[in-house]
Amino acid sequence: MNQEKEEGKKLSIGSQDITELIKARLKDFKAELVTSEVGRIISVGDGIASIYGLQGAMAGELLEFPGDVYGMALNLEEDQVRAVVMGAYEHLQEGDLVKTTGRIVEVPVGPELLGRVVSPLGLPLDGKGPLNTKRTAPVERVAAGVITREPVDTPVQTGIKAIDAMIPIGRGQRELIIGDRQTGKTAILLDTIINQKGKDLFCVYVAIGQNAASIARVAATLEEHGALEYTIIVAATASEPATLNYIAPYAGCAMGEYFMDQGQEALVVYDDLTKHAWAYREMSLNLRRPPGREAYPGDVFYLHSRLLERAAKMNKANGGGSLTALPVIETQANDVSAYIPTNVISITDGQLYLQSDLFNSGIRPAISVGTSVSRVGGAAQTKAMRQVSGRMKLELAQYRELAAFSQFASDLDKATRDQLDRGARLTELLKQAQYAPVGLGVQVAEIWAGTNGYLDKVPVARVREWEEGFNRYLRGDQKELIKSIETKKALDEDLFKQLEKAVKAFNRQFGVESAEVPPAEADKGEAQAETQAETQAETQAETQAETKGSAPADVAATEAERRRTADRRAAERRTASAAAKVSTERRAKERRATARRAQDATAKTAAKPAAKPAAKPAAKPAAGAKRPAGGAGSSRPGGPAEKK
Ligand SMILES: Nc1ncnc2c1ncn2[C@@H]1O[C@H](COP(=O)(O)OP(=O)(O)O)[C@@H](O)[C@H]1O
Ligand SMILES: [Mg+2]
Repeated sequence: MNQEKEEGKKLSIGSQDITELIKARLKDFKAELVTSEVGRIISVGDGIASIYGLQGAMAGELLEFPGDVYGMALNLEEDQVRAVVMGAYEHLQEGDLVKTTGRIVEVPVGPELLGRVVSPLGLPLDGKGPLNTKRTAPVERVAAGVITREPVDTPVQTGIKAIDAMIPIGRGQRELIIGDRQTGKTAILLDTIINQKGKDLFCVYVAIGQNAASIARVAATLEEHGALEYTIIVAATASEPATLNYIAPYAGCAMGEYFMDQGQEALVVYDDLTKHAWAYREMSLNLRRPPGREAYPGDVFYLHSRLLERAAKMNKANGGGSLTALPVIETQANDVSAYIPTNVISITDGQLYLQSDLFNSGIRPAISVGTSVSRVGGAAQTKAMRQVSGRMKLELAQYRELAAFSQFASDLDKATRDQLDRGARLTELLKQAQYAPVGLGVQVAEIWAGTNGYLDKVPVARVREWEEGFNRYLRGDQKELIKSIETKKALDEDLFKQLEKAVKAFNRQFGVESAEVPPAEADKGEAQAETQAETQAETQAETQAETKGSAPADVAATEAERRRTADRRAAERRTASAAAKVSTERRAKERRATARRAQDATAKTAAKPAAKPAAKPAAKPAAGAKRPAGGAGSSRPGGPAEKK
């Protein structure tokens, strides 16, 4: 316009000249298709602008406001469009022009982002210069379809023993980390990221609604452990507009998806989605969307489902990449049944439930074994780990129940005591400091030792010391063994033998002897784990009975021993079937049965007094036949008694 005016001034006024000029102008005139639509702001406030005249705007379209500010069209109403402004909106006024761009919100993606801290719109925040990315990707994308996916089959090694052993996470899985504040949720995320050092998993850490200091601490921690170089941090602080907090996880997801699309593996963690839901609620209320339960808008489920659905394991035809998601939900007073927690629990493939009372009693990581699950991760678990950890989850869950129950009981039978002892040691064994991830081989060796009784002679208070020493010993003196476990990924007969030797050697060094004879066939794969406890109990009972049997035939002593063994057996069955549900009625029944059995036995011994001295190890078959309740003859002595 200005140019034209100037030209107009220069021209001498004459109708001929004007006609010439117009002709010349018309000759060069090209009608270009202008794709942008222009509207005007009606009102603006709280980061929301109402715009008149954008009839053609798309949902989620990027809008251009004056002053290089962008916004996103969210409410497409009959006579206006409501859009959120991403960034400063104080300078916007009624009547300002707004243009559509024809694009959905995009962020830069690519390996150039690794090691960087960026905003949800992909602007660098770390002062390390421009990003130099070559590609962008829309923040919202429809998740991969069923046909392009494949079941998870590879684990994400978190380096946290309790998780890798009992609640394994597969690549492509969505595992929720849920718990109150200060229960170590962020710590688990960071440890998992740190443990990927030297592995093939790229990480994206999305901070939503945290304060800037916490984000800086996360970045510093990752950098300190050499983990930042394969990690992207997407940061939306609590002081930023709700919109940025709202976009952050989608942006992080798009950055992770880039790696998946390249056939690589990526992990994206959202810390945390509770604040994401809050940001969305704030935004929705400002957009005048009708509030529903807890004032969240009606589509708050879709908010998280469409995000988490984008985690996937692609099949070979589609590159074979994967994106694993670890969303975090912060609960209030351990209330997992609130609106947002239940939503996200139902979307994810399992949850790691962290409890503040565990955390405060020093059990860290504070994973509640009974309520945490991984619905698909079991298939992805390394075989070696499956071989050794089979029974552990059950044992620990029973232990916690039993421990709570036995607080009120004064005299416990031996079986219950044994279970409590074992549980206490396993709990100690699974405690782990922050930033100290444990490799697969060491984890397998430690858990094998713990579940096979090699810890039973170590005082509970010294288990952590034992663990530290054993860990060092394995990584130092047993490098080869650890390496072969990690490369073979399964334990064979030979490896079991080597493991046993290593544990025994270390126990001698530590000043404790091995508690008991481990099962002879420690190599029967998965079945082994299940049968082990039984076999052990049997061997123990047998040896006990035998040693007592070969002693001078004191009828009273044998009797007492027999009763004790029977008691123990019955109690064992009791705890195994339902630890917490020991009804007094059943106990009485069993006691009656035991008494009856004891009477039987007395009758028998009285009838055949000569048979007793024969109960020597040498005369085993005879002894076996004569031995009544606690004998090795029947593996379930309590069974028939109970049925009576
Ligand atoms: N395994 C652990 N051992 C010792 N301290 C831990 C462990 N995990 C977390 N912490 C500490 O507990 C505090 C809370 O952890 P954090 O991960 O920030 O909790 P959340 O994210 O659940 O609020 C932090 O000070 C952290 O250092
Ligand atoms: Mg946290």
